[in-house]
Amino acid sequence: MDEKNRMESILELRNSVIPPGYRSGTTVYVESAKGAVIRAIDGKEYIDFAGGIGVMTVGHSHPKVVAAIKDQAEKFTHTCFMVVPYESAVRLAEKLCQIAPGTAPKSTLFVNSGAEAVENAVKIARYFTKRQAIIALEHGYHGRTQLTMTLTSKVNPFKLGFGPFAPEVYHIPAPYCYRCSLGLKYPVCNVACADYLNDFLKYRVGAECTAAVIAEPLLGEGGFITPPPEYFTKLTGICRANGIVFIADEIQAGTGRTGKMFAIEHFGVEPDMITLAKGFAAGMPLSAVIGKREIMNSVHPGGLGGTYGANPVACRAALAVMDIFNEENLLQKAQSLGEKIRERLNAWQSKFEIIGDVRGLGPMLAIELVGDRETKKPAAEEASALVKYCIDHGVVILVCGTFNNVIRFLPPLVITDQELNKGLSVVEEGLASLRKK
Ligand SMILES: Cc1ncc(COP(=O)(O)O)c(C=O)c1O
Repeated sequence: MDEKNRMESILELRNSVIPPGYRSGTTVYVESAKGAVIRAIDGKEYIDFAGGIGVMTVGHSHPKVVAAIKDQAEKFTHTCFMVVPYESAVRLAEKLCQIAPGTAPKSTLFVNSGAEAVENAVKIARYFTKRQAIIALEHGYHGRTQLTMTLTSKVNPFKLGFGPFAPEVYHIPAPYCYRCSLGLKYPVCNVACADYLNDFLKYRVGAECTAAVIAEPLLGEGGFITPPPEYFTKLTGICRANGIVFIADEIQAGTGRTGKMFAIEHFGVEPDMITLAKGFAAGMPLSAVIGKREIMNSVHPGGLGGTYGANPVACRAALAVMDIFNEENLLQKAQSLGEKIRERLNAWQSKFEIIGDVRGLGPMLAIELVGDRETKKPAAEEASALVKYCIDHGVVILVCGTFNNVIRFLPPLVITDQELNKGLSVVEEGLASLRKK
């Protein structure tokens, strides 16, 4: 079968055996991937600005990760940590407890996906506080299970038709300064969206009924919404004053993605719990809840777990990722990558009227496309045309945002300057092509 026929038959088969709800953003079928480059089954190469949605921080098929996975797979792949445990999970937990921000002693629970980590963080916060309500941010994203879908803000495609939703979940305005839902302007607003929590507790739920506030330090799926520097000091101050657990959902923004190991470090606060997934295990299905020991250890023995949590192959991959961060100075690399991308994005904003906002931290950056800078009408069609242009010209890139009009950059942190410049030039040409339409 030639390549064209093979592709056609895969696509046809896919459409008959995989539901359309489980959509893929491209029809690029991968054969192999290395560093920041994906090779498709038709031999075409793509620069990867998506990194499997911010997962491939250390790059595809990093030799150290591959070696760790192979070595572990030859020894054993599963005994269940709840039955016959193993050292790698303990060492990884030790490492995460050490590097998590703040001075309070920590402990770490391993589960499989981001959503499962969030589910567990909420369970533990409810257990510890003996309260039920959970407050999340508008524009936030926390997963697709019943509870995490409820915590998630965006309706279509994540919630539409999937109700009823989980009880005792509430949302407050996000620090989305470009589109402030309180109609205010930073900094004269004095970060009123954080103070809003106080009124919300007084008039809507009751602090004594609220177990946790969960927030992404930089809101990923919602459009790389970047809170003002003082936002989390205020928000967590209100949590602390009311005995409410603060959960930082670092699933997309963590593991060096913003130039610091944990994005919340940019804001100088210590969360009570952190959820981590994606970048820290190089694509292996592993997630973690890292929390203050006092909170984590409050749960009775056997109250937490799951068959596959702390999978030994995934733990070894994650330990390799931690080593790579040190050996290859990845945090420093991330910071300089961020400066390079930001310089280009800022220059584009002066050149292309369609770019309403440039935002993010470190290399976790995005451009928000608008039809008009005054009205800020979201340019969703143009964003999707830009993504298509990029794919047609060898760059995989993703849209995000509540209004589907934000182009986000999530390349592997190990991307070379040459790959980065080549990829950015394609995006720039794509932006220019929008203007011509
Ligand atoms: C901030 C955040 N939380 C939770 C999740 C859910 O993770 P998963 O898709 O592994 O369930 C995601 C996924 O994109 C995320 O970005």
